[in-house]
Amino acid sequence: MASFESGAHPSGLPAVALRAGEGGQHSACVLLHGGHVVSWAVDGVEQLFVSAKAMYAPPKAVRGGIPVCWPQFSDLGPCATQHGFARNLGWTLAGGGVEEEGAAWAELRLVDSPETRAAWPHAFALTLRVTLSADGALRCALRALNPGDASLTFTCALHTYLRVDDVRAGNASVRGLAGAAYLDNLGGRERKAQPGDRQALTFVAETDRIYLSVPDALHLHCGGSGRGVAVRTRGLPDAVVWTPWEAKGLSMADLGDEWPFLVCVEAAAVERPVVLQPGEAWEGVQTLTAERTA
Ligand code: BG6
Repeated sequence: MASFESGAHPSGLPAVALRAGEGGQHSACVLLHGGHVVSWAVDGVEQLFVSAKAMYAPPKAVRGGIPVCWPQFSDLGPCATQHGFARNLGWTLAGGGVEEEGAAWAELRLVDSPETRAAWPHAFALTLRVTLSADGALRCALRALNPGDASLTFTCALHTYLRVDDVRAGNASVRGLAGAAYLDNLGGRERKAQPGDRQALTFVAETDRIYLSVPDALHLHCGGSGRGVAVRTRGLPDAVVWTPWEAKGLSMADLGDEWPFLVCVEAAAVERPVVLQPGEAWEGVQTLTAERTA
């Protein structure tokens, strides 16, 4: 029983609600503000972290869910605003519906405007297609088209906040990064290497790293509950892994004492910026699947 419904999020912001699965037991919610996925539940269990202190006050980005960082990740590009502007702007709903296979989908769109051209002088058409499958998987496909007459260059990330049991227990981890090179955001972006054994990256302190050219499947283990999420990607070769820990978490007004319950695994294109010649298009895809890890 799949469905697509356009309406309002409890915050009052315009949103799209998707349902899929035989009994409609899987769901997702996407805000038009930011093209921002703010809920993904499998069998009724929420998999994303969204702060209860999040502010639903455009142009501020919502703390949690899946912010779209575009045309810049962090400060790695020409925009003055951290993570670019896509997460701060109102997108339009371009379409939505139900597929024969029982998936529900919505497509959101952002195009250049005087506001974006003041921050970044390019014509662009950005679409985000969010698909919730009958098995509960959530696919986010970000597509950028260059309709202008000059080349454009961007970095980006689908900044996915995943809900973990409690990082203070020291047993939340990510598998798939062994041997990968990373830039350590906590140490001047010095280039380092993850130990090359099969060991997972376990969170025991603030972690903020840009892993470069990672495998196309990473697996988050959320902690003692044995809940996990697989993050599969195409066209997004890098992965940012971030959890703020106590000092940074408490310093963020829209996060505060909820810091133990999030780990971000962000599908990204950072090291090698994407270059689009006039008329060219690019697509990056992230598919999230809930899985048991214990
Ligand atoms: C992560 C960065 O991607 O985003 C962190 O690596 C940053 O350094 C975090 O703190 C949150 O960013 P923001 O702008 O949403 O507070």
